[in-house]
Amino acid sequence: MSERRTYYLTTPIYYVNDVPHVGHAYTTIAADALARSRKLRGHDVFLLTGTDEHGQNIERIARERGIPEQQHCDEIAAVFRRLWDRLGIGYDRFIRTTEDVHKRGVLKLWDRLVGARTPDGREAIYRGKYAGWYCPRCEAFKDEDELRQPGNVCPDHERPCEWTEEENFFFRLSAYEEWLKAQIESGRLRIDPEGRRNEVLGVIRQGLKDFSVSRARVKWGIPVPQQPDHVLYVWVDALSNYVTALGFADDAPEYRKFWEGADERLHMLGKDIIRFHCLYWPAILHAAGVPVPTREFAQGWMTKDGKKLSKTTGNVIVTDTLIDRLGVDAVRYFLLREGSYGQDWDFTDKAFVGRYNSDLANDLGNLVSRALTMVGRYCEGRVPTKPGLVAAVEMRFEEDLQLPGTVKHRTGVVLDSYEALDFSGALSEIWSWIAQLNQSIVNVTPWELAKDPARRQELEAFLYRLLEAVRIAAVLVSPVMPGATLRILRMLGQQGAPPNPSDLAWGVLEPGTALGAIEPLFPRVETKTEAEAKEKSPVSDTPVPTPAPPAAAPAGGEKIDIADFAKLELRAARILEAEKVPGSKRLIKLQVDLGDERRQVVAGIAESYEPEAIVGRNVVIVANLKPAKLMGVESNGMVLAASRDGKAVLCTFAADVPPGTKVK
Ligand code: MSP
Repeated sequence: MSERRTYYLTTPIYYVNDVPHVGHAYTTIAADALARSRKLRGHDVFLLTGTDEHGQNIERIARERGIPEQQHCDEIAAVFRRLWDRLGIGYDRFIRTTEDVHKRGVLKLWDRLVGARTPDGREAIYRGKYAGWYCPRCEAFKDEDELRQPGNVCPDHERPCEWTEEENFFFRLSAYEEWLKAQIESGRLRIDPEGRRNEVLGVIRQGLKDFSVSRARVKWGIPVPQQPDHVLYVWVDALSNYVTALGFADDAPEYRKFWEGADERLHMLGKDIIRFHCLYWPAILHAAGVPVPTREFAQGWMTKDGKKLSKTTGNVIVTDTLIDRLGVDAVRYFLLREGSYGQDWDFTDKAFVGRYNSDLANDLGNLVSRALTMVGRYCEGRVPTKPGLVAAVEMRFEEDLQLPGTVKHRTGVVLDSYEALDFSGALSEIWSWIAQLNQSIVNVTPWELAKDPARRQELEAFLYRLLEAVRIAAVLVSPVMPGATLRILRMLGQQGAPPNPSDLAWGVLEPGTALGAIEPLFPRVETKTEAEAKEKSPVSDTPVPTPAPPAAAPAGGEKIDIADFAKLELRAARILEAEKVPGSKRLIKLQVDLGDERRQVVAGIAESYEPEAIVGRNVVIVANLKPAKLMGVESNGMVLAASRDGKAVLCTFAADVPPGTKVK
């Protein structure tokens, strides 16, 4: 693997004016996934997150709640930490701007700024008079042309701005135009995605205005030493967290390692705060003689059902509710898979549940359970013999699975996609592999190999490689779903430690290792529309008289009435389990998912299908047949199949449909 690099990586620090929002979770999960992918490559990573606790807004909210500001901040910061813990965010430090070490750090930076000179030799900080429209929610002055009329309304917060006149300290941003442009154009400060970079360059071209860095009317903040009745502008206070958290105040070793000495200093943020991060912050640092960030990545905006997320209109997504519904891994997976990071995207509940069922329950869940079930059945639940690299079976394997070389290539593609913050790309690469692995089981037909003792070596070679492929796919998914990875690794009989670079190598599984117990990874859930459809469905409420089985259907092309056909209740059913009926050559006992119920159905298909081969398939069953006993086993329905040359061919669907869907 490449040389070990030092990466510093931050999320914005979130305002404590309210409890966490799904947008906060989105940025934080993305940052955590990137940090984990870099750790997986063996790099030295420091992930910082935290809370932004000063300013007029907090002052107002605490007053409204009738409690001291600090108490309010403590309470909300704790809610953020709890949610990050619940989401499995592996942050290295949670900074709060009310911490003493932060305040000392901000004052040190301020001290350097006060004595600093601009590139053209003027004072970087000066006293001046400010008059303008101030939005207390943004904690920023707004240009007149940004405001919505009438009422001078802030477009972000939809509230009127206040006309404010103050004697303030200013930062001479205008003197840093050329320097900022050169930084960004040269790529020394890389801004992603490219559209955002162009936007920032566009703002510079229009000319940068100096901005005021102290506030006279705010109490809840860090007092300006030169004018103690002022506090430092909350954005100067907040941005400084990126260095103060590492111990800038005391020139701590962590500061020297992860800020000054880092190979990359990356800030991840939303597009709403680009101006502060890409213009104000680098200029401030440069003026103070401190190294500047090397990269900033602005993510896209999330909406729900095509509309802006807003508490006022009730269009909200509560992260805890998403977790309660489908679990932490599913939430992390969906947020990073559905949208393209950096672009705007829309959250819908339907897509959340849909992806859960198709990507997690079906594709990944089925692969893991099929692989482990076969090893359980054919290899007594132990990792089979490791195949030699040049055996004849390799050729077959190359077609059906992936040879180690190909795996290495795939691993590289996935890790590079993470590195480019293309989480969706990384996941779709893993999922195309998962699809191939599922297909390889169908192609190789291990159940056929198992019948022939002479093909034992071939069987073991296939299963070994399948397990290895499952293991590596699980490791590759770990930056996004660390919990699922550990569960899969445990099922593979591995230690429960977070994966490291050696886990990406081919051939880690030791033959003979006992596999752990198989646990359901992602149990399928019902979508809202499925549930609603069932409630409305006349079929489930009104039992239809049992029709005669198809064998007794009118012969010789005699036509039936549509009413006769309507008596049949045909439904999609997903096969959950399949096993041969002992003592029968023909019968397989199936457990099927019918959406709202689980059923046992016996089918005469054992001469045509191996039980393992049909688990996960979506078939058609006659759902309203009277129960019958076949070889003493109860059957509640009938599976439809065609017969070709004496072999059964199951009726399936051209595209995935939810179990229980009516077939007409
Ligand atoms: N406290 C400042 C940041 C200071 S950093 C030195 C702040 N806080 S915030 O609580 O408003 O968080 C803003 C960030 O939350 C955005 O930059 C973005 O990362 C995330 N998001 C909030 N809502 C979002 C969406 N609807 N969609 C995507 N991300 C969003 O600004």
